[in-house]
Order: sequence, then structure tokens, then C-alpha cells
Amino acid sequence: MRIGILGAGGMADALGTQWARAGHEVMISGRDLGRSAVQAEKMSVSLRGTPVRAGSWAEAAGFGEVVVVAVREAGLVGVLEACGAALRGKPLVDVTNAADLAAYDPGRPLAGLIRDLTGGHVVKAFNLCHVDVWRMTPPVFDGRPLAVPLCGDDPAALAAVRTLVADLGCTPVDGGGLDRARLLEATAAFVIGLWFGGADAQAILPPLPSSGAHLPAEPR
Ligand SMILES: NC(=O)c1ccc[n+]([C@@H]2O[C@H](COP(=O)([O-])OP(=O)(O)OC[C@H]3O[C@@H](n4cnc5c(N)ncnc54)[C@H](OP(=O)(O)O)[C@@H]3O)[C@@H](O)[C@H]2O)c1
Repeated sequence: MRIGILGAGGMADALGTQWARAGHEVMISGRDLGRSAVQAEKMSVSLRGTPVRAGSWAEAAGFGEVVVVAVREAGLVGVLEACGAALRGKPLVDVTNAADLAAYDPGRPLAGLIRDLTGGHVVKAFNLCHVDVWRMTPPVFDGRPLAVPLCGDDPAALAAVRTLVADLGCTPVDGGGLDRARLLEATAAFVIGLWFGGADAQAILPPLPSSGAHLPAEPR
């Protein structure tokens, strides 16, 4: 698959390197082509296949059969505008989170903004875990592969992102339509706040008790 990444920072590095290792062609992009080219070279060091390329925002948007949106919120609108019409109808993987998590407004989800600005088939994914988790080969915790929820509406875009999740050694989980992306964004805002506040956020979601024959009633 040809993967264009809008971004040349931590998330572009972590995810792009893994996908390039899995045999995909990757182009990253940033504000400064020289700096992005240095980053692409760094990502290519351990690769046997095609080196990671660097381009402008519009070049990465045009290059990708799938395009990953991995920029900071502050730059989001400008970057998407710089891509012109290149993102219309394409599968777009939205990994973004709000810059100010404490002030996140679920009434204005970033995934909806990206869809409205681009006309792309947005799938929200990869926003719940820290960048270092995406560098793990593979991300496995307590013997279980990391599960990655996906929210999106377009079957072809969802199928492409499921492949990208599997290429990381993770398990895709159906999170529902794009209208539920706000829940993923709110979850990130809530959980990251707990982690950075010193709480063990993993401990708040134990599995359902499995010993009894009956599942507990769904909480209201
Ligand atoms: N880091 C994490 O643990 C993590 C985890 C999940 C989701 N996310 C989300 O993923 C997205 C990318 O995060 P990241 O960690 O890769 O960030 P990062 O390392 O800071 O990289 C940010 C990218 O955004 C670009 N950008 C464009 N306009 C910008 C502006 N006005 N201000 C700042 N950056 C601008 C930067 O361009 P240049 O290359 O020119 O600097 C860079 O390529 C964010 O929305 C973040 O919330 C991050």
C-alpha cells in the first residue's frame, strides 16, 4: 500500500517506520522539506525495501492510497487546506488528539472537522496510546496483543486500516461509525489526563467476571 503521512513528528516516525518495515511505501511530510528528508532518512536506516520518502503536504496527500493525519491540532486546518482536493474520497486515518485535553469539547470532534475539510473517508484510530507504544514490535501487554478501536463509516477505508493495525501486530476492534470518533477523542482526553496525573489508567477497566454463567446486566 502507498501511505502518505501528514506529519514528520513522533507519530509519523513510530507508525511510518513499522509500516515501511511491513513492506508499504511511505511518504512523510512536514513544514520544512529539509527537516522531513532527514527524518525520512533516519526511518529508512533499518529497512531492506523502499526507503521512506519526504514531500510537501500536497505531495504526501497525492502519494497515499491511504493518508494518515498526524499533525498537531494547531496546524491541522492549514495542513489540510494545503492538500487541496487531493484527499477527497480517500481513506484518511485520523490519529489526532486535542492540543488542550482538559478543554476537549466532544461537540466539536477533530475527526468530523477533518471529514468536513477534506471530503475523505475518515477512520479514527491509534489516538489512545502513547507514541512509544506504537514503536513496540509488537505491542503486547500481559500476553495480550494491543486492541485498536476503529471508528469510521466507509467499508473500504475500514478494511485498509484493519490491515494497517494487523501490520503492527495489533488486533482491530470495531468501534462503530465516525459519529462515535468523539468518544475515542474523549477517552484519550480522559485517560491521558489520568496517566499524567499519576493514576494507573489501565486498572480502571478490568475484564468482565468470567466465572459465572451469566454476564452482569449492562450498566446504565
Ligand atoms: N505523541 C503521542 O504520544 C500521541 C499519541 C496519540 C496521538 N497523538 C496525536 O498525533 C498527532 C501528532 O502527534 P506527534 O506526537 O507526532 O506530534 P509532533 O511530534 O509534535 O509532530 C507534529 C507534526 O505536526 C506538524 N505541524 C504542522 N503544523 C504545526 C503547527 N502549527 N504546530 C505544531 N506542529 C505542526 C509538525 O510539523 P514539522 O514536522 O514541520 O514540525 C509535525 O510534523 C497530534 O494530534 C497528537 O495529539 C500523539
